Amino acid sequence: MRALAHRRLPRFVVDYLEGGAGRGLTLARNRAALDAIALVPRTLRDVSEVSLATRLFGLAMAAPLMIAPTGVAGLLRPGADVMLARAAARLGLPFVLSAASNVPVEDVAAQGGLVWMQVYPLRDREATRRLVARATKAGCVGIVLTVDTPVAGVRHWEARHFTPAGRPRLRTRLDALRHPAWLMATLRHGPPRFPNIGLDVTGLDERAERKAINEGKDPAFTFDDLAILRDACAGRLVVKGLAAPEDVERIAALGADGAIISNHGGRQLDGMVSTVEALPACLQAAGAMPLMLDGGIRDGVDVAKVLALGAKAVLVGRVPLYGLAAAGEDGVAHALSLLTKELDRVLALVGCRDVTGLDRRVLSGRCGSDRDSCLRLGRPGTGGRAASAPC
Ligand code: FNR
Repeated sequence: MRALAHRRLPRFVVDYLEGGAGRGLTLARNRAALDAIALVPRTLRDVSEVSLATRLFGLAMAAPLMIAPTGVAGLLRPGADVMLARAAARLGLPFVLSAASNVPVEDVAAQGGLVWMQVYPLRDREATRRLVARATKAGCVGIVLTVDTPVAGVRHWEARHFTPAGRPRLRTRLDALRHPAWLMATLRHGPPRFPNIGLDVTGLDERAERKAINEGKDPAFTFDDLAILRDACAGRLVVKGLAAPEDVERIAALGADGAIISNHGGRQLDGMVSTVEALPACLQAAGAMPLMLDGGIRDGVDVAKVLALGAKAVLVGRVPLYGLAAAGEDGVAHALSLLTKELDRVLALVGCRDVTGLDRRVLSGRCGSDRDSCLRLGRPGTGGRAASAPC
């Protein structure tokens, strides 16, 4: 599906979809950390029936898997947000609609299924509150507040494709001409607009709209502001973009319902820790608050590893986007079902009938993560020390 996406999309869109920040160190580190984890299958268990079903935040999910929020998906295919929502609903999986999405939240939520609304901290605090109210009224099941974007990450590929004024360079225009299917669809629908950011951008042209959105984000948003938002938001509130255990502890104390250990898929702070490395210490800090994780998940084996480490669910960003670019709604559904079908098979192969019972017993030695946190996370009865293997 990745190959099909590459064929259909111009280079600047592929870079937007796949690119990381800086030199791509964190992008690569997310993958390396996942690959370093090894599974230890348990045999001679009855795995004739395997269940992926789970409940999280009181919501039933067909599998512990969600579509992560991805902004400007309409650049890949007009109407993308509806396609993502419909495919997720078909599979019984939740979908998180990005604040930088291109279809009104009301239209997306009307597709059914479990839709979460992602918001950014905005300078205009009323705007954030208005968007939360709008999403709740539209039927969204909760709010995801993304906190790893006080400023934009350094993305060198942007300069390769756009002038400092934000205009496409000549080679970018020529490349678009070489992708007629994408170009025709984009010309027919016009450039993606932003009906959900929460800011009033009516009447602005597309470039002014994007500038208003970038400048609208609030780099001065703190834990105190989160506390106010928590009080104002009656429904489920999950904070996305954490990697430091102290931050996880603080948001748990402020009453967040959950957190997503995330580095924005390696698109924000290059050189930062991978999410899998960060997870064990964050789990300790979270107490009873459920943690989810994203970053680099590409197949069912990855999903199983992260769940075994202790995350309650996994989010995927680029995987559904590959499906979207390749074949629209059906492509998204296919990409997601590749993950769930493989997860089903991996569960049977590691000797686990129920995904909610997957734990560290199926991981070898150091779990591909920080050794100290692994040791500190030792299973009950081991006096805080992990058994030699699995840890
Ligand atoms: C993102 N991500 C993101 N996150 C968010 O909170 N709001 C957003 O608008 C976006 N936009 C966005 C666009 C694109 C093209 C990508 C690839 C990612 C980050 C996303 O939610 C998630 O954290 C990562 O995508 C997870 O990594 P993988 O699964 O893509 O490797």
